[in-house]
Amino acid sequence: MFTSRFHLLIVAASFSHAVCGPVQSTFEISSEVYAVAKPRQLHGRFLQITDMHPDPHYVEGTSISKACHRSKPKKKKKRAGYYGTPYSDCDSPLRFTNYTLDFLEKNWASQIDFVIWTGDNARHDNDRKLPRTTFEIYDLNRAVAQKMKDVFLKKGVPVIPSLGNNDVWPHNILLPGPNDITSHFSSIWQEFIPFPYRQVFQRGAYYSVEVIADHLAVVSLNTMYFYDANKAVNGCPFNELSDPGNLQLDWLEVQLKMFRERGLRVWLSGHVPPSRGNYFPECYVRYVDLALRYQDTILGHLFGHMNSDHFFFLEAGDLELELDQQVAKTEIESTADADGDLYDAIIDDFGTLPGLSKVELDEYAVINVSPPVVPNPYLPTFRIFSYNVSGVEMTGNLEKKKKKKKKKKGGKRKPGHHRGGHGDKSVHCAEEPFRMSWKCHLSNDSWHSDPESPPRKNQRWTPTGYAQVRDLNLLLHQFI
Ligand SMILES: *[C@@H]1O[C@H](CO)[C@@H](O)[C@H](O)[C@H]1NC(C)=O
Ligand SMILES: *[C@@H]1O[C@H](CO)[C@@H](O)[C@H](O)[C@H]1NC(C)=O
Ligand SMILES: *[C@@H]1O[C@H](CO)[C@@H](O)[C@H](O)[C@H]1NC(C)=O
Repeated sequence: MFTSRFHLLIVAASFSHAVCGPVQSTFEISSEVYAVAKPRQLHGRFLQITDMHPDPHYVEGTSISKACHRSKPKKKKKRAGYYGTPYSDCDSPLRFTNYTLDFLEKNWASQIDFVIWTGDNARHDNDRKLPRTTFEIYDLNRAVAQKMKDVFLKKGVPVIPSLGNNDVWPHNILLPGPNDITSHFSSIWQEFIPFPYRQVFQRGAYYSVEVIADHLAVVSLNTMYFYDANKAVNGCPFNELSDPGNLQLDWLEVQLKMFRERGLRVWLSGHVPPSRGNYFPECYVRYVDLALRYQDTILGHLFGHMNSDHFFFLEAGDLELELDQQVAKTEIESTADADGDLYDAIIDDFGTLPGLSKVELDEYAVINVSPPVVPNPYLPTFRIFSYNVSGVEMTGNLEKKKKKKKKKKGGKRKPGHHRGGHGDKSVHCAEEPFRMSWKCHLSNDSWHSDPESPPRKNQRWTPTGYAQVRDLNLLLHQFI
């Protein structure tokens, strides 16, 4: 959970019947492989939904300061609302999570191609008198998963869930798998996980789905093995190759390589966003390296967890050695967790970006963080992305675009902005403390970036925008 008093307004919010890009042409895609995707029309839109946080103990009219669980304050302003309580720390009444999924069923289920669902389907541990139990967490997850199946999967819309830090007990802690939690989720999500990935899932709770067979894939990452609040793992140390974070990043590299060779484009998704403030430093370095190395294949990075609407950048400079160990204050640091500094951290960070004429786009990746369904701390929402499916009907067959081979030397990476003194790897990598760090052992393979590829130039599969969808009626009558 994350709270911030500032609401970062980066995109315009739109309301219930938001038009998300022009209506795209449609085409029957045949499914040749095992993917969940069945032959169907494409709409050029998909949903990202995150951080629902249903709370079965929520009672309307109780005290906001008691997690909306009990007591009845005299002042109406201090009481829990009917559909939830925005600008508070309370979670979602089941009435509201149901409302949201019913709203999606009615208005969006037949308008989208797939669903990226980035975790936290249980309440927060925010009431000492009512601690969470493993049973309750699984129960809530099972109920939400059932609803997601009914609303989307049964209509042929693939759903790709990922594990949140509140979907485990105790929160944030996940031991290396296979374990009880990975087994439970492999059962709860059985219908979402393609059969060939089940075994990998048992071990690490990550997998991929070809949402449009042979063309578009979504990778669901288990960010619990990268998240530095997870004290049960060591955080991708270079000298511990069996660390679950390292194993997952090895797997991700193989996935990206395989998808790239087959000419697919890929969305990466997960709960906790890859920032220096959230990830173990060594996991972060490896993530940045893969994000940039496969820039021509990755359409975007979609995360949740922060309960706050924003985006930020990964930069080639993050892979350089920092000689003066002084940490630049512009980072989206752990300060972002310290209530309220996220806005300032991001604005500072953007302020240090080079001007547009100087920016080398090969050296950046954008991380998109969706605000949550739970009205905590702001108003509830979900995101509808649009992407380009044009030309699909004209070819009649989705021929694969010839991959352009464009070599990019890893050596001339320039830091995007100041992150301390940058050391010469040929000198300092022989020394402590860098000798056994990932920065000194990154692959020398070329970076796959291409200004003509769908992540950079508008063509089929290119993301073209998103709308933050809200139900205006609900907001006007219940929340404002
Ligand atoms: C929410 O929906 C589920 C399944 O449709 C139903 O069983 C449950 O009673 C609903 N809960 C509320 C509070 O509306
Ligand atoms: C990359 O190249 C450098 C210099 O040639 C070498 O020292 C290093 O071991 C190489 N790294 C890997 C992972 O192969
Ligand atoms: C989709 O890409 C094509 C080029 O392949 C372009 O002509 C078209 O304008 C794009 N459509 C949208 C909606 O951006």
